[in-house]
Amino acid sequence: MFKKVIAIMTATVLAASMLVACGGSTGASSSEPAAQEAAEPAAEEAAEPAAEPAADAAGEAAAATDGDLSTKKVGVCIYQFSDNFMTLFRTELEKYLIEKGFAKENITIVDGANDQATQSGQIDSFIADGVDVLIINLVNSSSASTVTDKVVAANIPLVYINREPAADEQQRWADNNWNVCYVGCDARQSGTYQGEIIADLGLDAVDFNKNGKIDYIMIKGDPENVDAQYRTEFSIKALTDAGFEVNKLDEQVGMWDQVKGAELVANSLSQYGNDIEVVFCNNDAMALGALQSIQSAGRKVGTDIYLVGVDALTEVVEYVISGDITGTVFNDHFAQSHNAADAAINYITGAGNEHNIQCDYKKVTKDNAQEILDSLK
Ligand code: BGC
Repeated sequence: MFKKVIAIMTATVLAASMLVACGGSTGASSSEPAAQEAAEPAAEEAAEPAAEPAADAAGEAAAATDGDLSTKKVGVCIYQFSDNFMTLFRTELEKYLIEKGFAKENITIVDGANDQATQSGQIDSFIADGVDVLIINLVNSSSASTVTDKVVAANIPLVYINREPAADEQQRWADNNWNVCYVGCDARQSGTYQGEIIADLGLDAVDFNKNGKIDYIMIKGDPENVDAQYRTEFSIKALTDAGFEVNKLDEQVGMWDQVKGAELVANSLSQYGNDIEVVFCNNDAMALGALQSIQSAGRKVGTDIYLVGVDALTEVVEYVISGDITGTVFNDHFAQSHNAADAAINYITGAGNEHNIQCDYKKVTKDNAQEILDSLK
């Protein structure tokens, strides 16, 4: 460990002088980002062979440069401010960046209003402003390569959050030794946990219409987003892996939105009625909408239908405790925002990062909901 601290400190001093030498330059071509090339090999050395979570390395690196962060500028792009989960995320991100030594006035967080063109304009402005690091929650994951190219060309380190760019795009970061990474959680795990929450109830409890199958509807988030794709796929895979037969009655796109979730579930309930045994929602906002429609249709979760979401929004965890929602999956916005901030610090100090930094989801059922609720406060 001691050796590692020394390595990180050495890397930090080296890279910091490089960064100062190259500071403000936007002239480097995307194939030769001078500061990044200089910082990266040292960083990889420092990180090896530990493959330790970024948070640890960041703690050390941040401590080594105490005080310097107050003058550093951070640009944060959020795909849409009205998203419940991303509101928790950005609030915690700003709080933690300040705790780590950034000045509030140097942290600028902008709303992409769910429009990639708007967000791309915001990224251009941040580049023109010469921010020291960018943290980006893309509107469209498929825009990652274009965004990466322009940010790398401007020699600005980049931390993607929440919407994971494709594997070939991430491979480019590694191949070129770029200071670009993704911080998030593996959405397959969240889907699996949703399916397991239902599987654990057992067929007898779930199969109200006694057709031997689990009859469900699926309310999806933005289909462009791997979180939506994986949760849709892996929730059902967990059921079939556990030996259940499944029957999909309906699958609709609710775009992560509560109002859309309510509308879609109301429609499905009027079409399929009592045959719907489980409502899977790719996130909690849509599960809250689903609950409104389930209640208006005179159905009762736990008695004649089941409902699961993802995120562990406070309101939903309270509903899990009261039994109005069957379960959810904690999407750890604390770990993700802290890891993102730590990764940003690691780039600023020259300590560098792995290109993909992950954290775990946690299953939330009646059994542990109170504990999770307490941890959210
Ligand atoms: C969250 C959703 C959120 C989405 C935004 C997902 O990880 O579960 O609640 O709307 O990210 O991209």
